Amino acid sequence: MKPTRKAYRASLLHSLGDPTEVGIEASYEYISDGLLLIEDGKIAAQGEAAALLPTLPEGTPVEHFERGLITPGFIDTHIHLPQTGMIGAYGEQLLDWLNTYTFPCERQFENKAHADDVAARFLAELLRNGTTTALVFGSVHPQSVDALFEAAQRLDLRLIAGKVMMDRNAPGYLTDTAESSYAQSKALIERWHGKGRLHYAVTPRFAPTSTPEQLAMAGRLLAEHDGLYLQTHLSENAKEIEWVKALFPERQGYLDVYDHYHLLGERSVFAHGVHLCEEECARLADTGSAIAFCPTSNLFLGSGLFNLPMAERHKVKVGLGTDVGGGTSFSILQTLNEAYKVMQLQGARLNPFKSLYLATLGGARALSLDRQIGSLEVGKEADFLVLDLAATPLLDYRLQQCKDIAETLFVLMTLGDDRVVRHTFAMGQKVHSR
Ligand code: GUN
Ligand code: ZN
Repeated sequence: MKPTRKAYRASLLHSLGDPTEVGIEASYEYISDGLLLIEDGKIAAQGEAAALLPTLPEGTPVEHFERGLITPGFIDTHIHLPQTGMIGAYGEQLLDWLNTYTFPCERQFENKAHADDVAARFLAELLRNGTTTALVFGSVHPQSVDALFEAAQRLDLRLIAGKVMMDRNAPGYLTDTAESSYAQSKALIERWHGKGRLHYAVTPRFAPTSTPEQLAMAGRLLAEHDGLYLQTHLSENAKEIEWVKALFPERQGYLDVYDHYHLLGERSVFAHGVHLCEEECARLADTGSAIAFCPTSNLFLGSGLFNLPMAERHKVKVGLGTDVGGGTSFSILQTLNEAYKVMQLQGARLNPFKSLYLATLGGARALSLDRQIGSLEVGKEADFLVLDLAATPLLDYRLQQCKDIAETLFVLMTLGDDRVVRHTFAMGQKVHSR
């Protein structure tokens, strides 16, 4: 077969490492007039346009973006498909918010046609915002995950998802049992895990809505299959933490509940972790587990301020999560805008290159997918964005005042949203254009 080959000319920016570990200057590469060559869905070359253009095979089409900035696709390490229809719900903190808004909304996913409709809207929204990979909660209904994977497969997205396991402390219409959650998860794993770019995540909602028997089943699923993910919530809200202590008095703390059932590991992602202690951070790091930092959600639900510097001290892997619908935006740029403010409120800074890292390579590392995605390194899958530096009159004007790429990047993350995402590419295919 003839290779499909196409080149894109614009500024290029991507992360090379965590600024906290390698320093700011070594953490990124920026090329003001760059070229990205895509062959058969992978990055075949990238560098200075002037150097690469003469080397392109004859006839290679080149698309040029004036005031365009090419970055890797964004990675959302925590989001809920069935909460798309209830984003921005008024007035409650976590536990009341779940009962008042979330559970009734998730109930609708018992209907596959509804799940198909929302899955299409959800993926369109991810791509519109430049998110090319996400770790996604379905509802308790297996058909929610079928709907999402079917739609993601058509677009050849690298996506991870799982059916919620929840066998207590929730309405009867939304609970499974330890046995049925095991059997349904297993059937989904067999149907989807490893198919194309899709992966399965074992998904106990959080400790309060699973019996010890169900948490043991989650551990059993992880032990029985290679490469599975584990996603759940951890230490988000003060009342939630008290509840976990009351439900599991024999455990040392919230994280220890999950640890006891063998749910920690290289592919385990815990959302929030707002109220963790030093020992819990150390345990997360020791086991290679990751935290999804969800600033818009933590502010909106009044949960608290995530202590990123503490996670950094312990070298815990951290990715970013929008946590829609507890979070208030599908935009990773807007999520970074709020992340910056969460740091400000704690007297800390969030360097723009650290933000870029969290949104891309750091997210890929949190998902153990950094060999495949997360940067513009040659050989990686061509999941990338063309950002438009003139997307709105204000952005256009403000960015013209910027003295360097650090300032440009910071303003993009402060003012930017889906309007700056001109094109989204997945495996080299244009999957969204504004
Ligand atoms: N904890 C348990 N379920 C949820 C959820 O749906 N959203 C958030 N933010 N926290 C949770
Ligand atoms: Zn969540």
